[in-house]
Amino acid sequence: MEWMIEVCVVIGMLLMSWWILLYGKNDEKTVGKGKVPKGNSGWPLLGETLDFIASGYSSTPLTFFEKRKSLYGNVFKTCILGSNVIISTDPDVNKVVLQNHQANFVPAYPKSIRELMGEQSILKMNGTMHKKVHTLIAGFLRSPQLKARITRDIEHTVKQCLASWTSHQPIYVQDQVKKITFPVLVKVLMSVGPGEELDFLYREFAEFIKGLICLPLKFPGTRLYKSLKSKDRMVKMVRKIVEERKKVMIDNDADDEGDAVNDVLDALLRDKGDSSSSARLSPEMISQNIIEMMIPGEETLPTAMTMALKFLSDSPLALSKLQEENMELKRLKTNCSEDYAWTDYMSLPFTQNVISETLRMANIVNGIWRKSVNDIEIKGYLIPKHWCVMASLTSVHMDEKNYENPFKFDPCRWEKIGAVAGCNSFAPFGGGNRLCPGLELSRLELSIFLHHLVTTYRWVAERDEIIYFPTVKMKKKLPISVQAIST
Ligand code: HEM
Repeated sequence: MEWMIEVCVVIGMLLMSWWILLYGKNDEKTVGKGKVPKGNSGWPLLGETLDFIASGYSSTPLTFFEKRKSLYGNVFKTCILGSNVIISTDPDVNKVVLQNHQANFVPAYPKSIRELMGEQSILKMNGTMHKKVHTLIAGFLRSPQLKARITRDIEHTVKQCLASWTSHQPIYVQDQVKKITFPVLVKVLMSVGPGEELDFLYREFAEFIKGLICLPLKFPGTRLYKSLKSKDRMVKMVRKIVEERKKVMIDNDADDEGDAVNDVLDALLRDKGDSSSSARLSPEMISQNIIEMMIPGEETLPTAMTMALKFLSDSPLALSKLQEENMELKRLKTNCSEDYAWTDYMSLPFTQNVISETLRMANIVNGIWRKSVNDIEIKGYLIPKHWCVMASLTSVHMDEKNYENPFKFDPCRWEKIGAVAGCNSFAPFGGGNRLCPGLELSRLELSIFLHHLVTTYRWVAERDEIIYFPTVKMKKKLPISVQAIST
């Protein structure tokens, strides 16, 4: 029954996209000197959707982009899932889109994702409200105080996870690393530690994200409906924590700037509101946002860890250099029986280069989607009002104009490229006013994971394949067999 309804809706969507194609064309439009980029709108009904998806499922996901780049140039138009889309593989155009100085772009997500986010989600909101919430969250996540404190928690979960690995059976890396990242994320967001509440969130969140890519049908029995129910249950639980925390804050009069901010929830609760963005954030909005922040945080980081391990397994030279650097730090720390500081992990140059190279090649977020709210001209290209733009990160990261021998995992290239910040051709965390607030936390977690992994185990990975669609994954979850290093 569920599938029959979904099939009917697909047909409906296709008819609608046909209608849009027939009556919604404005390709010849020009503004100033700008022209809509060249390209093809594809088949009636389907546009170029099938080609786009087929390329994503193949082992060469760039085919779709490369083919059109060679025909039409670095910026081209297409039609995917009934929407006119301009795809940019040009780092300068991408930068302007992401910077969004004139507020010409708003986020564009598929309908199922929009349905799962609340109206006041950080992922969806714009303008002063977005700026305020983004600043509060990023300010907390980047603070040295958080990094100092969370380092112990990350070390603990990493060591606990690694200790459960045995040499007798395959370890499925893709599943294992989630045991590290999820508890850390929940701790950072709302200070919930191991126990029933964490298990509840783990279960419900797994159910919730199944609805991220599905048909946008919202009635009992559909995938989206089940996901929304899971979200409701999580919000209810978080709402209780928010109310309790608020009460403690009022009782202790702990609203002052000097008090420690322990998690994202605290950071949002302490906001006093201001004239430009009006009142304080409501408990409901805070609860929703805590859950919604798990969407960009939960899937990306474990994928980065898995891909780092995959690339290192295929690059023995890089692995041995990484091991050498980390063994040296371990010796140093053992000799003076000192705890690691977060800065110890972050100051290992080769390890940081391994992380940059992993992020460049893994392309966990392959592109960033926006919708224009005005006619906009960038570098001579016209982006008409209400069109979607996809700033392709993968195309930029894998372009030989930007990186010599781009398909080679070569952490040493970063010694020459130098500072990561400010480089248009490297944007795994996006950019502009939506630059990922979890950037530094992610790098720290990756550094701690890699340190303890390479100083504890040697491993052999089974043959496995990277899948790029709908999200980056290992086909067989990356099975490895490990052997403890005797020290
Ligand atoms: C390797 C790991 C990660 C990668 C590659 C990554 C990538 C990104 C990218 C590309 C964006 C920009 C999206 C856009 O412009 O529309 C983004 C936004 C975001 N990320 Fe991350 N992310 C990672 C980890 C995390 C973590 C661990 C957290 C949470 C602690 C997080 C929280 C967020 C949030 C809340 C946003 C939305 C920011 C806004 O719209 O203002 N991310 N991320």
